[in-house]
Amino acid sequence: MGFNTIAVHGGIKDESKSAINPPVYLSSTFIQPDTETEGEYCYSRGNNPTRASVEDLAAAMEGAKFALATSSGMAATSLVFELLKEGDKILINSNVYGGTWRFVSNLFENRGLVYEIVDDFNTYDLKDSDAKLVFIETPSNPLLEVTDIRRVCEAAHKKGMTVIVDNTFMTSYLQKPLMLGADIVIYSATKYYGGHSDLLAGLILLNDEKLYERFRFLRNTLGGILSPFDSFLLMRGMRTLALRLDKQQENAKGIAHFLDSHDGADRVYYPGLKSNRGYEIQLEQAYGPGAVLSFELNEKDYDLKTFVANLRYFAFAVSLGGVESLICRPSTMTHESYKKELQVKIGIRPNLLRLSPGIEDIDDLLDDLNNAFIKARRTL
Ligand SMILES: Cc1ncc(COP(=O)(O)O)c(C=O)c1O
Repeated sequence: MGFNTIAVHGGIKDESKSAINPPVYLSSTFIQPDTETEGEYCYSRGNNPTRASVEDLAAAMEGAKFALATSSGMAATSLVFELLKEGDKILINSNVYGGTWRFVSNLFENRGLVYEIVDDFNTYDLKDSDAKLVFIETPSNPLLEVTDIRRVCEAAHKKGMTVIVDNTFMTSYLQKPLMLGADIVIYSATKYYGGHSDLLAGLILLNDEKLYERFRFLRNTLGGILSPFDSFLLMRGMRTLALRLDKQQENAKGIAHFLDSHDGADRVYYPGLKSNRGYEIQLEQAYGPGAVLSFELNEKDYDLKTFVANLRYFAFAVSLGGVESLICRPSTMTHESYKKELQVKIGIRPNLLRLSPGIEDIDDLLDDLNNAFIKARRTL
């Protein structure tokens, strides 16, 4: 089956009423067969039919054996970090989603955990590392840096390390980290999977049964499950993932080329541009560059505040992956958890803007950006 066929026909069907869509099981508890037997479903924190259906679909789309749906992307990340015990170390790439960084930089110390920031996994030698987990976001948020997943996995596995890939920017449509050797894939399904900016959700995908059972235990114990209604909404979004992402990616390519030749952008970060450091690796390991891009506004000639204020279709808001276009300023929004000195060190500058084009018509989006540049031009 092709990706779209899986996306449309996957998930657990409800045979009993011949309904095209599964019902939303809002029941928190389920009647048990007798005193000795536990039924298929018992209590919705542990398992729920609507959630099981979206998990079935997510696993099929990823080509994974197991999926777990969580209440948000951060709930998925938190479960993965629960694998660490006091004294354990993780390696993490230098720019990751600000919420992930907030977790690592604030909660690790209390738990006796250690982290090391890796500037570039493509040149980093894992041979001498004593880390337990390797956490990669590729392309990274917000600088769209690309990590060679296969290379890292090969080196990490020689040392017995577990590799986690946050695949939020790519989705299973554009990149399949498990097939490149990763052990665990996580998503903020709030983004492209949901696709309509109307829910928060997370996903964990993996092939290892023991690890899957561990995550099920942890999720049931900690409680960060995806609700039945959000499971239903998420599944509805997932049916059209590829159609939306194709359009968004085309829009992102058009915008990247527009910005690249506009004097309003000092620098454009997008792995679909040949000038980008990660272009070749991206071409090799993914089916496209994705639909998120960032650029540094030329503040010498353009006023950032006026530029943002004059956009009509790009809403100034955090998040990404919805059908509507969004723009945000990572240094004060999604990545404000990074201390200023660290932002400077890793290149998250105050004039960096991150774009998530939606599915609008490209001509309107380009007009919108062009018009905002005209309004924001400083008078000579
Ligand atoms: C790459 C990435 N990972 C994880 C998250 C966290 O997901 P959520 O907001 O669903 O908790 C985000 C959110 O922006 C993200 O961009």
